[in-house]
Amino acid sequence: MSERRFSGQVTLDGPSGTGKSSVARAVATRLGAAYLDTGAMYRAATVAVLDAGVDLTDAEAVTRAVSEAAIEVGTAADAEVVTVDGVDVAERIRGAEVTRTVSPVSAVPAVRRLLVDRQRSLVAAADAVVVEGRDIGTVVLPDATLKVYLTAAPEARAQRRAGQLGVTDAHKIAEIAADLRRRDSYDSSRADSPLRPAADAIVVDSTGLDQDAVVDRVLDLALTAVGEPA
Ligand code: DC
Repeated sequence: MSERRFSGQVTLDGPSGTGKSSVARAVATRLGAAYLDTGAMYRAATVAVLDAGVDLTDAEAVTRAVSEAAIEVGTAADAEVVTVDGVDVAERIRGAEVTRTVSPVSAVPAVRRLLVDRQRSLVAAADAVVVEGRDIGTVVLPDATLKVYLTAAPEARAQRRAGQLGVTDAHKIAEIAADLRRRDSYDSSRADSPLRPAADAIVVDSTGLDQDAVVDRVLDLALTAVGEPA
């Protein structure tokens, strides 16, 4: 159920493990807006690349595999729809193989251009939309109504991820933290569209905040941005 009239685009960027997806879905639901998970698009593209069996260091072959696949990502906040060539891959895109491979695939500039075009078309079709990713405020939607950059301390992010996976072993949690740091540094240092806050983004640090508090903060910011203070 939506609470108030919101029309426009909210971008939610930031590293993994900040609770960004849950916050983005909840904000979209409360605003009665569409929701686009651009990470799911890069993950679905990675499925297409893995299934094509191409060499991951061959940017041209990787791009061809992505452009030839029919990648569909739904925009409803209450249902996760992700298909590649008509096959439901919603579960597979969260698995270890795709998670390991998605960074090099998403670093290929031609892959990014293809997916950014699709992201802009999907956004254009919605009167109100919450879009989450890494470069939404900086590259995909530079004129968005509200740009939020969600961050949190690495330890807090590793704990959150461990909780989702049901992991309690300290050694495994340290491995998760190492994987998060590895992906952050890869995503922040790539030449094309590195992970960073847009100059006009509002940085929200979720360390020590529960999800409801973060959702309320983003909702306040969104309603204020359209002149309808909470
Ligand atoms: O948010 P996520 O973990 O599902 O994202 C998966 C990968 O895709 C991550 O390594 C960064 C990349 N990504 C990106 O490069 N640009 C985006 N807009 C979204 C995700």
